[in-house]
Amino acid sequence: TAPARDRLRIAIQKSGRLADPARSLLASCGLSWRESRDRLFCFGETLPVDLLLVRDDDIPGLIADGVCDLGVVGRNVLTETGLARGASGGAPVFREWRSLGFGQCRLAVAVPDSWQWTGAEQLSGKRIATSYPGLLRQWLEAQGVDAEIVLLSGSVEIAPRLGQADAICDLVSSGATLAANQLKPVETILESEAVLAGPIAEFDPVRAGLAELLMRRLEGALRVRK
Ligand code: PRP
Ligand code: ZN
Ligand code: MG
Repeated sequence: TAPARDRLRIAIQKSGRLADPARSLLASCGLSWRESRDRLFCFGETLPVDLLLVRDDDIPGLIADGVCDLGVVGRNVLTETGLARGASGGAPVFREWRSLGFGQCRLAVAVPDSWQWTGAEQLSGKRIATSYPGLLRQWLEAQGVDAEIVLLSGSVEIAPRLGQADAICDLVSSGATLAANQLKPVETILESEAVLAGPIAEFDPVRAGLAELLMRRLEGALRVRK
């Protein structure tokens, strides 16, 4: 368990799609910070709520380790990390507290444009490149399909053209990346968006109070946005 702290620390993406919307949503909750945006740590001025700017993939782990209290992260990353931790015997320690209404995308299986798609059984015996092995494996099992998962940490969309895989499973937002690589989405594995992630366990009273205040303001800010 984390040592008692009298400030709340929220991890957000340093750069990337969720970075600016996460920061402006928190700002609309009345938070402001002293540091400039190129720093990795932003000290909260109006409330004792600090920001840590990190790689999105690191956010669930930072919460699990108690380094950060909350995080703004894609449901895809949160779920995948949870599955990976579960697979290695870890008990669940973080969960989705609330969806945040931005960063909508889906985790999809995509195949070369030239394929005539008939259904999941078409993937049987095929190699599928992904950065989401846990979610993909779970989906394949539910479909009763036996396929080989090729783990890549990035540039997944190019794998079929390189002969490294037959199909892919990756995030689709506008669809431009798939189209540019002559791929088409055929199955949705997970509907995703930015979420507020936090621990399953309760905070100490000071941080619990801060988190409660933040949640109340978040509800207000999100209601106004609708
Ligand atoms: C995601 C995903 C695709 C791209 C799809 O990567 O991995 O590469 O966005 O978006 P599109 O459908 O609008 O073309 P992103 O750069 O967001 O995140 P990552 O660097 O964490 O993979
Ligand atoms: Zn990422
Ligand atoms: Mg990407």
